[in-house]
Amino acid sequence: MIYNKKTVRDVSFQGAATLVRCDFNVPMKDGVITDESRILGALPTIRYLMDQGAKVILCSHLGKAKGPDPSLSLESVAQRLTHHLGRPVLFAKDDCVVGEEAKKGAASLKPGEVMLPENTRFRPEESKNDPLFSKELASLATIYVNDAFGSAHRAHASTEGVTHFLSPCVAGFLIEKELQFLGDAVNHPKRPFVAILGGAKVSDKIKVIDALLEKVDTLIIGGGMAYTFLKAQGYDIGQSLLEEDRLEYAKDMMEKARQRGVALLLPIDHVVGDGFREEAHASVTEGASIGEGLMGMDIGPATIASYRKAIEGAKTVIWNGPMGVFEFPAFEKGTKEVAQAMAQCDAVTIIGGGDSAAAVHQFHLAEKMTHISTGGGASLEFLEGVSLPGIAALDDKEEQAQ
Ligand code: 3PG
Repeated sequence: MIYNKKTVRDVSFQGAATLVRCDFNVPMKDGVITDESRILGALPTIRYLMDQGAKVILCSHLGKAKGPDPSLSLESVAQRLTHHLGRPVLFAKDDCVVGEEAKKGAASLKPGEVMLPENTRFRPEESKNDPLFSKELASLATIYVNDAFGSAHRAHASTEGVTHFLSPCVAGFLIEKELQFLGDAVNHPKRPFVAILGGAKVSDKIKVIDALLEKVDTLIIGGGMAYTFLKAQGYDIGQSLLEEDRLEYAKDMMEKARQRGVALLLPIDHVVGDGFREEAHASVTEGASIGEGLMGMDIGPATIASYRKAIEGAKTVIWNGPMGVFEFPAFEKGTKEVAQAMAQCDAVTIIGGGDSAAAVHQFHLAEKMTHISTGGGASLEFLEGVSLPGIAALDDKEEQAQ
């Protein structure tokens, strides 16, 4: 997709006020940023624009703000950017985002200087893709760069609307890198190509299961959504998560896998608990069935061995969604072992953001992966084959000579 979009390499930035949409939607605890991956991911584009003499006006959302909310201020992000860039990043505190401070700040920026206005979601118009707010944002700059891969699946004012008021509109290095890794893995995979899907719900993964069955050699399913598949095969699943209305879909997908010759691996044993609690009593089942009153909380040892074997034989592995409730130590093993198997194999290994990225960080295996996406929802939609509005809206590269 990026291959036909203009990037920062195609534009001259000297002296130009440049609005750069980043995804600084970082996890925070008690006001402290707990994972800086998205900030670090944005630095190459920001540094490049500074070096090119742009007046850099960053922008981003943070959290699910529906209006001004001091606990979701971007001020701490501005401080971390100042630290990483080694240059002060001017933070414009207006609750209305494009207020007096932002306007004055933007007008006073010199080439190579950087400013960050407040959380774009302090304006409810952001998520509504309101053209008037897009126009306000656009009034700060002349050029638009989108480097917010994590938000590229959102058609919001700062990701899509603004492109109607600025020109040129081009992609940054992070978007380029994400699309290269995800695109190559999905469209030109070295085989065997193994996809691992987990997480709670089948309904969240409907399109991606369908799309990946067209491409992979092996599809591994774990996590809460596996129990709907097992129920569809006739197994007892006790109190485990079940989406009754997805049973037919699960059957269809198993049939599709059979017809296409894709190996679809499901859990053959489980670690179960007597309730969804951290201190639940954990035990291992004999086979794929789960007894009355028990709940599947993780994949069992025989399943781990079978999933490991598939991963060890792969040349490309994509993973999205944990194998169990890895936040609870008694039920983390399946997710940890899948992460370790990926870290040890010699395949191209791609982590599709979100909870799987959090797991890989929690188990200190991030360095061992080929690529960890900064987008959860965005990478999932990319794998579904859906066009991402924040990228579709950018300028196409000129046609090659006719
Ligand atoms: C994400 O964390 O997936 C992105 O930043 C998008 O956030 P959103 O789901 O709140 O739109």
